[in-house]
Amino acid sequence: MRIAKLALAGLAALAAGASALPSLAQEHAAPAAGGEAEHAAAGGGHHMLEPKGGWPHEDYFGTFDQNQLQRGFKVYKEVCSSCHGMKLLSFRNLGEQGGPFYDARFPNPNDNPVVKKLASEFTVSKLDPDSGDSVDVPAITSDRFPNPFANDIAARVGNGGALPPDFSVIAKARHGGAGYIYSLLNGYAEPPEGLNVNPGQHYNAYFPGDTGSQWSGDPRHKPPGGFLAMASPLEFAEVGFDDGTPTTKEQMAQDVAVFLAWASDPKAVARKQMGAAVIPFLILLSILVFLSYKALWRNIEH
Ligand code: HEC
Repeated sequence: MRIAKLALAGLAALAAGASALPSLAQEHAAPAAGGEAEHAAAGGGHHMLEPKGGWPHEDYFGTFDQNQLQRGFKVYKEVCSSCHGMKLLSFRNLGEQGGPFYDARFPNPNDNPVVKKLASEFTVSKLDPDSGDSVDVPAITSDRFPNPFANDIAARVGNGGALPPDFSVIAKARHGGAGYIYSLLNGYAEPPEGLNVNPGQHYNAYFPGDTGSQWSGDPRHKPPGGFLAMASPLEFAEVGFDDGTPTTKEQMAQDVAVFLAWASDPKAVARKQMGAAVIPFLILLSILVFLSYKALWRNIEH
């Protein structure tokens, strides 16, 4: 009996492990783990902003809202993609199961006309097989999201010396994930009286940094946050959403944050669902193992 109990406990732990796997990555993205602390901003330690409804995709069995992913993609395409590439993401990922433009009629995303069209709206550099020259051509579904700048030097020159980071895994590379991106996009504020902002820099209450050296007020009350070279990208953005959702800064910030969370791990939902399917299987298996153990040892003194 004890062995059976142990086996059951082991399997239960395994099953829990399987379902906890996807969340591990999330926790990794927010090492300040544990309830409230998770939302503490790295810069200044104050709480991050959270939209109404929170971040459902971060729950154990949470999924993405496809409309929201489509809106977020549009914000990325129309606003962010002029400075931020996504070199690990291919256009066809957009049409894979769980992706913004998945359509059950096109199990192979390379056949999905929406994905094809979206890809063709981006330009990538390729070698011309006839001349060997590098030419700019419309992207196809198997291409990756291009870097908008020819190289890092050009990117810095165009951005006051700062390098816009690639977005492939940005939601995982920053504490707080989608919550951080949302807070950053909404965190631009007039610098408080006594805070000196250098030219080309912008004060943001959620950017991790130290305002101490620029602060002439009481050092115990230095403002939270820091300075970054990116001006508020959504300040004057007018992204027309196809589903009629009003274009507010908060809405665009929330949608693009969710899109970037999806992009940083496009297979997360499929993995969670696999975990959920594995648990009943493991339970059934453990019952069968237990019954066969009983049957095998039925007539044996032990
Ligand atoms: C005009 C160019 C430009 C545009 C457009 C732009 N960014 Fe940036 N972004 C930058 C630069 C430059 C940096 C690096 C800033 C620094 O480190 O000082 C940056 C940094 C970031 C960071 C990283 C901050 C950190 O923690 O290091 C995030 C997140 C970000 N941008 C989000 C966005 C989003 C979302 C959009 C679209 C809504 C966007 N950006 C549009 C130029 C841009």
